[in-house]
Amino acid sequence: MSTLRAEVLAATRALADAGVPSPEADALALAAHALGCEVSDVRRRMVLLEECDAGVADRYAGLVAERAARLPLQHLTGQAHFRHLTLSVGPGVFTPRPETEVVAGFAIEAARACGPTPVVVDLCTGAGAIALAVADELPGATVHAVELSVDAHAWAARNVEATGLPVQLRLGDATTAYPELDGTVDVVVSNPPYIPVGMVPLDPEVRDHDPEVALYGGSEDGLAIPLAVARRAAGLLRPGGTLVMEHADSQGQTLPAALRRTGEWADVVDHPDLTGRPRATVATRA
Ligand SMILES: C[S@@+](CC[C@H](N)C(=O)[O-])C[C@H]1O[C@@H](n2cnc3c(N)ncnc32)[C@H](O)[C@@H]1O
Repeated sequence: MSTLRAEVLAATRALADAGVPSPEADALALAAHALGCEVSDVRRRMVLLEECDAGVADRYAGLVAERAARLPLQHLTGQAHFRHLTLSVGPGVFTPRPETEVVAGFAIEAARACGPTPVVVDLCTGAGAIALAVADELPGATVHAVELSVDAHAWAARNVEATGLPVQLRLGDATTAYPELDGTVDVVVSNPPYIPVGMVPLDPEVRDHDPEVALYGGSEDGLAIPLAVARRAAGLLRPGGTLVMEHADSQGQTLPAALRRTGEWADVVDHPDLTGRPRATVATRA
């Protein structure tokens, strides 16, 4: 029988050899999943030179082999952490990203500034991450969320039910959604598909496992779908309401410029993510 420490070190090496970007963190996360405990427990048990029983070692080896084949970590654990929430994810839904936590933060800040009962709409909700974070952090908010893909919508529905948070979820097209809310919404937030068509992502986890409908923005510059979503946001927002939209790091000037050209937006400001790359545009409905 080998020690847990030896198993995790061997897994880290195997994942590094396979080109996994964060091999140690993933080896620890998969060990925690195999053992049914937290990563902090794995670290403690490694220090204590705890032995790893054969059943756990086999299960761990299977998970590590799948990760080395570049299945997303979150599909193997079935979970994605987003702000204060742990969401269920898997095949058929876009995995929520850390950069989107900052985007959700802008929406939460803007909604909080509207008073105790803001109305917030998340267009293109995927697994429901942004909408659920808003509902979690602003208990007085009325939160609507729409998603086009049947598979992604099912994941969002599962997350709404599991968290018990009051998000009103709808299956539908964000570019035509919620005509009954026109002119009444305080904040619209969206992380739409925005990758330029033809720019296939290099990471196998993204290229092969995030759904295409979640990735590509529908034009060479990737802005066709984001701008159609922004047009709907302009219809939904009351004058003075806020749009928060995530974009690719190549779109930090083009998306704000395109929004300004519509004449529908004032105070269009772009913001970097935690790594300093342009990532989110915030604009006020004129
Ligand atoms: C980049 S993913 C973001 C998902 C989620 N907002 C997040 O940040 O994790 C974009 C999502 O938009 C959905 N989508 C694409 N076109 C849409 C449309 N016209 N209406 C509604 N949802 C759409 C995709 O299915 C996908 O779930």
